[in-house]
Amino acid sequence: MSPPRKRKAPSPTPLVEPARRESLRSGLLTWYDRQKRDLPWRRTRDPYAIWLSEVMLQQTQVATVIPYWERFLQRFPTVEALATAPLPDVLAGWRGLGYYSRARNLHRAAQELVARFGGRLPSTAAELLTLPGFGRYTAGAVASIAFGEPAPLVDGNVARVLSRLFEVEGPPGDRAREARLWELATALVPGERPGDFNQALMEHGATVCRPENPLCLLCPVREQCLAYRNGRVDELPPAKVRAAPKRMTLAVAVWAHEGRLLLARRAEKGLFGGLWELPAAEVEDDTPDPASAVKLAEALGAEVRVQGHLGTVRRQLTHRSLSLRLLRVTGHPHPTRAPAFQELRWCTPDEASSLGMSTAMHKALEAAVTAGALRG
Ligand code: ADE
Repeated sequence: MSPPRKRKAPSPTPLVEPARRESLRSGLLTWYDRQKRDLPWRRTRDPYAIWLSEVMLQQTQVATVIPYWERFLQRFPTVEALATAPLPDVLAGWRGLGYYSRARNLHRAAQELVARFGGRLPSTAAELLTLPGFGRYTAGAVASIAFGEPAPLVDGNVARVLSRLFEVEGPPGDRAREARLWELATALVPGERPGDFNQALMEHGATVCRPENPLCLLCPVREQCLAYRNGRVDELPPAKVRAAPKRMTLAVAVWAHEGRLLLARRAEKGLFGGLWELPAAEVEDDTPDPASAVKLAEALGAEVRVQGHLGTVRRQLTHRSLSLRLLRVTGHPHPTRAPAFQELRWCTPDEASSLGMSTAMHKALEAAVTAGALRG
């Protein structure tokens, strides 16, 4: 008697039906080959240069990133060059891009790459994820674009494209929605040219499947788009509920002595960590000068007196409305070390402006000098 035949287990239903998957993949890849923007990081195969572009592009527009990317690579052309550069120089190369933790992580990751991988980026998303600053997005981007691994990625643009193509409900940030988007990205990426496919998704979101006024008539995968079919393109994804930016007021010490100003380097952690500044302390909006002086005195470990006001510099960041209140101060003794800062220096304005400083603080320095900080 022949043994009973084993029944084959039914294969699980694929998340995306194969014909639809192929049509989406080939539609997007063909469109990308014809329409992609000529961006400088698309002309290199250097994983370090590609990684840098992906980090810069995370919170910054393409047009802003291009000159920064070129300058940064000139200054730090290799992982080794970045790893051995002093952090303040790296932060100086980042000035104006904001979100300085990106630069701090890049620097730390470069040092780990030298220590653990001989200065080369590892080629899989799983290994990249063990490095500082690499989340799922960056690991997927570098692994797929630089090394051709079929690793998925989801950024804001991809999230919008997929939520329209597949009618994924829920606002940005919703856990179930994010999980579903990553599942879809994972299901779509295997196949030829995974790096180009990921870039096609992002490029499509940036130029055609835009948040406002999407160009559906130019869309190469319109026939496959559930939101288009159901007239819901303008509803998906729903707008993100953003918290109002927090107000933050800083008392900024403009302490001049013999043609020099006191500069301080912030502790490594927190907002503007590791950057240089005119020494600043957070105060309330209505804190009177003597109380601001006490805060600055604590931070500087010296007696501080407020002599006058040199104006206020305001700057809007994504999550913060900053007011920098410039206080002309003097005190005793002239500090060279301070409890709240990593380092202090007495600098001419030219020396000061070449230090790694946030854009807000750079404006404060300019305003203080223009208002006569070094006169009288
Ligand atoms: N946004 C971030 N990285 C990108 C890339 N490689 N292509 C298109 N858009 C992007």
